[in-house]
Amino acid sequence: MVLVQNGGGVMASKIGLIGLGTMGAALAQNIADKGFEVAVFNRTTKVTYDFAGSVGDLAEKITPTESLEGFVAALQKPRAIILMVPAGDAVDTMIASLIPLLGDDDLIIDAGNANFRETRRRSAEIEPTGVKFMGIGVSGGEEGARFGPSIMGGGPKEAWDRVSHILEAISAKFQGIPCATWMGSDGAGHFVKTVHNGIEYADMQMIAEVYGIMRDGMGMPAAEIGAVFDRWNEGPLKSYLIEISGKVANATDPLTGKPVLDIILDRAGQKGTGRWTLIEAQHLAAPATAIEAAVAARNFSSRLEERLSGEAIFGAAPSAVPKSADLIDKLEQALLVGKIACYAQGFGLLAAASEEFGWSLPMPAIAEVWREGCIIRSAMLDDMAQALGAHPGTNLMFAPKFAAQMKANHGGLRHVVALAATAGTPTPALSAALSYFDMMRTGRSTANMLQAQRDYFGRHTFQRVDRDGAFNGPWADVEHG
Ligand code: 6PG
Repeated sequence: MVLVQNGGGVMASKIGLIGLGTMGAALAQNIADKGFEVAVFNRTTKVTYDFAGSVGDLAEKITPTESLEGFVAALQKPRAIILMVPAGDAVDTMIASLIPLLGDDDLIIDAGNANFRETRRRSAEIEPTGVKFMGIGVSGGEEGARFGPSIMGGGPKEAWDRVSHILEAISAKFQGIPCATWMGSDGAGHFVKTVHNGIEYADMQMIAEVYGIMRDGMGMPAAEIGAVFDRWNEGPLKSYLIEISGKVANATDPLTGKPVLDIILDRAGQKGTGRWTLIEAQHLAAPATAIEAAVAARNFSSRLEERLSGEAIFGAAPSAVPKSADLIDKLEQALLVGKIACYAQGFGLLAAASEEFGWSLPMPAIAEVWREGCIIRSAMLDDMAQALGAHPGTNLMFAPKFAAQMKANHGGLRHVVALAATAGTPTPALSAALSYFDMMRTGRSTANMLQAQRDYFGRHTFQRVDRDGAFNGPWADVEHG
């Protein structure tokens, strides 16, 4: 390891990485581990030194630098630089500092959780400088970043092609296939990552709701619930989120000896990606109601004092439900159906965005890239990839394999939602998933009533079921008898 200042005479690095927080440090080690020389820089030099001192044998491949100039000089041309700085202003500040030091065809890759609209803006702003810009979504938390994340690329295809061998090498592998794919131009990669996070929120929330029925309805202790999750992880629900739900439910708090779950305050944090998903869903008129419900559930969770006031007035909501193996099976069915509905919403949103932003998003490849490495990885995603490939443009729930699962299991979800409603256990995401399914299989909806109301008060006109044209109703006759 040689400390480079202003390009002081060491072998140039293949790629650079700025930002040695948890994710950046893990990613830099992953890159070095795969045999690529990587130059690193952090705003606080001590962080750079501490990192360089902590990487053991990987130090041979890692070049720590003290200044941005030294960092840039340490890179092979055309340069490729990964930014792992906090999303938002820090990205703009870093880009502004880098641009004067870079030349034509050098490449900046924002690998943070950026809002895709910011990525689109940055792409447009940077383009005239000759420097290339990519936004890539990286999922998998610290462990993923270190040993194999799922990578969703966006930006110029030529730029992706230049660095794809590195990104593929560091990515997770599903049966040997890299989970790193180019999704489209400008903000496409960050958009796909945002929808990934929206699905992540909904998946997590539905698991939490089922946990609530077991804890509050059936009175099951955490370890018993953990055993149920462990068992489910052997079946069709097999996924990272079910796996870790089992692990957290089985964990004991060293301070009190109680289950860890029982000592964690019920107030959930959020950094905004779930909210962005539903904001974009509204812009695109794409129903993403399970994701919306999941984001709202986090918002409800933060209103702890208000909830306690409500409980004092109305009494604690959940009442007991009979504990039975049959109900546990129905909870499993409910999660399965809820999950399919939620992915149908996510892929519907991706399809709407693809059209709006001219991306041609590769739907089957998106499901493929989520099969390993990312937080929502699950056994089901391989089937989804095949269904999306075989039935392009179709709602995922309608693809034969998933239609069969919906038919076989929606009764379980219906039973669970009805039971929860009667018991007073909130199940906002599961209920939203059920409503989505029911709305999507209702050929004759009640929107005729909405059209009549609109026409009544605003003469907005309506279409008829029996003839073409735009019509007004006989409201004057109604009004005047
Ligand atoms: C991932 C995660 C990761 C992170 C998010 C969600 O794919 O690795 O989604 O990006 O966990 O920031 O965090 P919040 O729950 O705080 O919004």
